[in-house]
Amino acid sequence: MVARVRTVAFQGMDVLTIDVQVHMANGLPAFTIVGLPDKAVGESRERVRAALAAMGLALPPQRITVNLAPADVLKEGSHFDLPIALGLLAAMGALPADEVATYSALGELGLDGALAPVTGVLAAAVHAGSQDRGLICPAAQGGEAAWAGDVEILAAADLVALVNHFKGTQVLSQPKAALRAAAIQYPDLADIKGQETAKRALEIAAAGGHNLLMVGPPGAGKSMLAQRLPGLLPGLSAAEALEVSLIHSVAGELPDDGLVSQRPFRDPHHSASLPALVGGGMRARPGEVSLAHLGVLFLDELPEFSRQTLESLRQPMESGRAVVARANHHASYPARFQMVAAMNP
Ligand SMILES: Nc1ncnc2c1ncn2[C@@H]1O[C@H](COP(=O)(O)OP(=O)(O)OP(=O)(O)O)[C@@H](O)[C@H]1O
Ligand SMILES: [Mg+2]
Repeated sequence: MVARVRTVAFQGMDVLTIDVQVHMANGLPAFTIVGLPDKAVGESRERVRAALAAMGLALPPQRITVNLAPADVLKEGSHFDLPIALGLLAAMGALPADEVATYSALGELGLDGALAPVTGVLAAAVHAGSQDRGLICPAAQGGEAAWAGDVEILAAADLVALVNHFKGTQVLSQPKAALRAAAIQYPDLADIKGQETAKRALEIAAAGGHNLLMVGPPGAGKSMLAQRLPGLLPGLSAAEALEVSLIHSVAGELPDDGLVSQRPFRDPHHSASLPALVGGGMRARPGEVSLAHLGVLFLDELPEFSRQTLESLRQPMESGRAVVARANHHASYPARFQMVAAMNP
């Protein structure tokens, strides 16, 4: 019998459905994961084995094959632990396979079976909703997933809680969308004494969405002025807040207490590497330009940035998107930001 659980893979802002298929057959006992897994997914075997042992379940002495389909998409990250464990439990008959198949699952397992937070839960929840599926995610991220709207969310603290839920002994309730408690406090333009021309320039930049370069001697208040720009901009609309939060969710930078509800202000250090700035690196994560989407990117000490880094900003600034080339595909992230730069003469 083949048990199936759905999960997701991320390619830039695109969410792909991944089918986790678990097959148990007679033969020499083995446990293999196939379907282009990266190192973290390969290691998931050990975590899943330990997590099941923590529940008092041993893997049957059979030939167990886990296939992540489609096989030509690179599977990256640790969020495959949970769907693999659920697939095994379904194949072993500990969970009702047909019910589990109506959910999409993601989460990282600890050796004790506890579920740890992963990146991209909000994006996965929106995707699950678009396919009329529920979402199973770590308890800590239920509040994040609930923002996706009309999606059934199971936010479990550990594997035992999920088994109990499907058995009906302790049903998990739908989490509430996490709300930010306090109102956001922006630094105030009123703190700046004098500097009438600079303040006016800042206001005009805010009104027109213009980029801004400030040139002045050390201590003139350039950094201070730049920090006050987000406070002048209008607040994010609900749709914009979701858009920004999706990017931060994929980058794993979403605050614990809910969505990004204020305009981002990013000020990368001038030694920041090119992948850190425009995206890329290990898992093609969004860079600073995308994290600053619909907000402000502040480049302090502009001449200290390497020429290569500055040139790489050209394309995102023109097109409003940052494209990250990988070996087998391109990931692209939105990057419409307002740039403020400061330098000494
Ligand atoms: N117009 C001002 N009103 C009030 N405080 C100011 C003003 N200008 C400077 N300051 C004070 O001076 C400090 C230094 O300013 P800031 O760091 O913004 O200067 P800067 O122009 O960025 O300098 P640098 O070129 O060295 O980065 C601020 O933290 C603030 O306390
Ligand atoms: Mg400064």
